[in-house]
Amino acid sequence: MAKLNINGQVVDVQAADDTPLLWALREQAGLTGTKYGCGIAACGACTVHIDGQAVRSCAMPLSAVTPDQKIVTIEGLSPNGMHPIQVAWRDLDVPQCGYCQSGMIMAAAALLAEKPNPTDEDIDNAMTNICRCGTYNRVRAGIKQAAANRQG
Ligand code: FES
Ligand code: FES
Repeated sequence: MAKLNINGQVVDVQAADDTPLLWALREQAGLTGTKYGCGIAACGACTVHIDGQAVRSCAMPLSAVTPDQKIVTIEGLSPNGMHPIQVAWRDLDVPQCGYCQSGMIMAAAALLAEKPNPTDEDIDNAMTNICRCGTYNRVRAGIKQAAANRQG
């Protein structure tokens, strides 16, 4: 059993220590916005924040997460869907099928928190998530628009 702080709430999770955080989020906490893609930390569909850092939850065992670490999922990123990345995503119609997009948004939000005005190189380095629909150009534009809106 593990205690997790998810989106500001303490949740008791009944699962083995080596259970990936992704499954605790989806199956125990019922937060299904975080998606399963590859299971080997390669695609980024499962990206959440732990203490503000983008983390691939499919490769993070529960034993590696302490109760005082703050986990934020797509459901907790903003109380009303108005995080600057979410606003830009809607404005530019970034998603196509949507499957990868909660991971994209969480990775982009962590990047923007660290670098308020990211360069193309910063975006290339941070956004290694895979999108089978090929939304990469709109993801880049969305990050730039969110950065510009924040500074405007
Ligand atoms: S499902 Fe976690 S990186 Fe692909
Ligand atoms: S929008 Fe379809 S996989 Fe990215």
